[in-house]
Amino acid sequence: MESKTKVIIAGAGIAGPVLAIFLKLKGYEPVVYERTLSVPNAGLSLCLQPNGLRVLSLIPGFVDKLVGKQISKVVHYSLLPEEEAVLAESGLVSKLPETVGFGLFGIRRPKFHRQIIEEAEAHGIRIVWGHQAVGFEQSEDHVKVTFANGNTDTASFVIGCDGLHSNTRISLFGKEPVSFTGLTQTGGVSPAPDARRDYGMRNFYADGAHMILYPVNDSEISWAITQREPETKETWGHMDEEAQRAFKEGPWSQWSFGAGELVRSCDRIVKFGLYDRPELSVWHKGRVVLLGDAAHPTSPHLGQGANQAFEDVYHLVRLLKKHNPSASAPSTELLSTIFTEYESLRMARTSALVKGARKQGEARVVEGVEACKARNNSIREAWRDGDAITAGYMELYSHPFLEKSDI
Ligand SMILES: Cc1cc2nc3c(=O)[nH]c(=O)nc-3n(C[C@H](O)[C@H](O)[C@H](O)COP(=O)(O)OP(=O)(O)OC[C@H]3O[C@@H](n4cnc5c(N)ncnc54)[C@H](O)[C@@H]3O)c2cc1C
Ligand SMILES: *[C@@H]1O[C@H](CO)[C@@H](O)[C@H](O)[C@H]1NC(C)=O
Ligand SMILES: *[C@@H]1O[C@H](CO)[C@@H](O)[C@H](O)[C@H]1NC(C)=O
Repeated sequence: MESKTKVIIAGAGIAGPVLAIFLKLKGYEPVVYERTLSVPNAGLSLCLQPNGLRVLSLIPGFVDKLVGKQISKVVHYSLLPEEEAVLAESGLVSKLPETVGFGLFGIRRPKFHRQIIEEAEAHGIRIVWGHQAVGFEQSEDHVKVTFANGNTDTASFVIGCDGLHSNTRISLFGKEPVSFTGLTQTGGVSPAPDARRDYGMRNFYADGAHMILYPVNDSEISWAITQREPETKETWGHMDEEAQRAFKEGPWSQWSFGAGELVRSCDRIVKFGLYDRPELSVWHKGRVVLLGDAAHPTSPHLGQGANQAFEDVYHLVRLLKKHNPSASAPSTELLSTIFTEYESLRMARTSALVKGARKQGEARVVEGVEACKARNNSIREAWRDGDAITAGYMELYSHPFLEKSDI
């Protein structure tokens, strides 16, 4: 038998190992290289949504193993001193499993990450830790990847799943300017107070700050506060003890509806600066292509980062199968056809969502009484119209396929 076509995946974050499983199932031989030495215990949570879950459900038995919590409703609160009130409440999210197959599912990122890695290993995929890809040298029929530790490896083609600070992206298109959006997120995972065990996703709107929370299992709630602040690093690192103590004494610690209690009871608080990057007009060069955050980094306000990465995986694998059904070693020309079709399909959608997320962040964090009034009115209006909410869900969640997949 002819040897299998080898593919190097840079990055064993959320997208890399999932992509590797699909490629392996389609007859390729993927190898994943990851910069960190092991699965980091970093980050908070992800909200898996129907579009992403539908892709994961194509890996036999995997979705059933996930440990998280289904979100049953969405509630919006005003926390302004003039009036503390519920602005809107909707249970339409609980109808999603019937209409689009899956609902919203809160999950701890470190736990989910470990499950993805284990699943990839169970499929016989090699994940090589402590290897940061730094160089990509292309020839007519292969790519040679060099790692920071001096090792090299060669494959037919390379997929850069190396996230926000992607070296693959830099090596293809150069270093781009990044700009701080003026917004930061500070968050953690806290024990769920008994009164909060109805598993809703909650939004709290204060003057100059917004908090979102959702359950990640039966006894824990993940939360994040977005505010306007001076520049902060773009990493999911923990705050030092002193900064945590100061944060826990901030105005949010007194917020009502149970919000303050989560801040006070959190023992590991994480802080993350939100940055803008220019959108690319191509995602590939020769035999190397980008996927996930490396291709279309987004601010987190729509919770679509991981879900869009899974949509990418679906379409890239579908197109590889369509144009190269035997999984034989593809020519650069064939790869160009596949990568171009993938890009043209994915760019419009991810670009709209990146812009939508940015707009959502701007709308959530407003300052001053007048702006807050306008904001709480627009939330009330938006959530009054059940048909519009359902239409919005359909637009977001009827991708990348609704019933039958094509891979
Ligand atoms: C540590 C961490 C914590 C996060 N926590 C949250 C969170 O709490 N909430 C949230 O909404 N999103 C979080 N994210 C982002 C979220 O995981 C992504 O937006 C989304 O899942 C898209 O996945 P991705 O695989 O494209 O990128 P990522 O999940 O970021 O994965 C990229 C991977 O590539 C690795 N890598 C980077 N450079 C190289 C290189 N040169 N060579 C080899 N490997 C490389 C990184 O170490 C990382 O494992 C976090 C990301 C990271 C890395
Ligand atoms: C929720 O997750 C935490 C941390 O992983 C764990 O300690 C706790 O037992 C879990 N709770 C339930 C009810 O599963
Ligand atoms: C909305 O904001 C304005 C301005 O602070 C306030 O008067 C109003 O009561 C707020 N709350 C609600 C629930 O509308």
